[in-house]
Amino acid sequence: MDDLILAEASAVDDEQGPVLVLDAPALATALADDLSTEGRTVLHRSDLLTDETEVPATADVVDTWSDPRLADVRLVLLRLPANLNALDELAENVAAHCHPDVRVVAGSRVKHMTRGMNEVLAAHFGDVRASLGVRKCRVLHAAAPRPEVREAEPTWPRTAALDEFGLSVVAYGATFAGNRLDLGTRQLLESIIDLRPTAGADRAVDLGCGSGILAATLARNGWRVTGVDTSRAAVGSTAATAAANGVEVAVRRADALADWPEGDLDVVVCNPPFHVGTAKDSAPAFRMIRTAARALRPGGELWCVYNAHLPYLPTLRRDVGPSEIVTRDRSYLVTRSVRAQ
Ligand SMILES: C[S@@+](CC[C@H](N)C(=O)[O-])C[C@H]1O[C@@H](n2cnc3c(N)ncnc32)[C@H](O)[C@@H]1O
Repeated sequence: MDDLILAEASAVDDEQGPVLVLDAPALATALADDLSTEGRTVLHRSDLLTDETEVPATADVVDTWSDPRLADVRLVLLRLPANLNALDELAENVAAHCHPDVRVVAGSRVKHMTRGMNEVLAAHFGDVRASLGVRKCRVLHAAAPRPEVREAEPTWPRTAALDEFGLSVVAYGATFAGNRLDLGTRQLLESIIDLRPTAGADRAVDLGCGSGILAATLARNGWRVTGVDTSRAAVGSTAATAAANGVEVAVRRADALADWPEGDLDVVVCNPPFHVGTAKDSAPAFRMIRTAARALRPGGELWCVYNAHLPYLPTLRRDVGPSEIVTRDRSYLVTRSVRAQ
């Protein structure tokens, strides 16, 4: 697919200014190799930290959409995200901050493409067209940013009231479940709603914090909380959710708790992912459990929610310690594991 994006991009490239690559680390790497010899800068930005760190330092990370270098960007390459809210936020920011002559070349496998993607792009660009499919892949081209988008206030992040729990939830586009309450999150939230710190045992992490609903709830209960997530959207959302609810939550964009000091935490709460992109994969969940076990002090607790059919309980017992099922319904299990000495 990257070959198709590159071929379609070179046909519309006016060879001026930096190129921006979004959520496509292999593309950013290939372009940085090719264009650095021509003195042209490659900028890149990915939602996932793991994607961003794959790209060599010859390409520069764009940390904020107010980066002044974006004003000269006339070519943007991206892999289309399946999540339409993520695409909407990217399109809105590219239309608002890049050069008015910017051209967007966005590729995907045809089986993952929907009409909704064209509609989202068309809300921000006056000219949207699809390429012919090549080897099961296709590219959408977008150009002519709509003037009203360039003048409007940003529409991301977006806030929703979660009245039942007295919370405001704020989410950027790529955040898991957006500003809604996922059913698994609800199970874990109800299980920890009265969990309170004791003297000298008040350090908590919401691991894979998403919009920060769990982090904000723990902070409201008096915990000193850090929200950890590999997603740029998630840590931004958690910080915004905490601010909206008047509580303090530190945030950290990191790969699980691999770098967290050993034996430091009293509680970790986690609703781990069971997908990587569009493929089912338990590896990130196992990594989260393993690194949480290391970061907990003896006697510290890991609270998890996961789909009832997933075989995580033996892993929790082996990696963390004694584990019990707190609640279960037809879809989800909530477990509490106590870090063994
Ligand atoms: C199922 S969502 C849960 C989000 C939030 N806690 C909730 O319950 O709504 C899983 C979260 O884990 C994050 N995640 C996936 N792999 C990760 C990793 N290696 N390190 C940290 N976070 C990760 C995802 O970005 C996502 O926000």
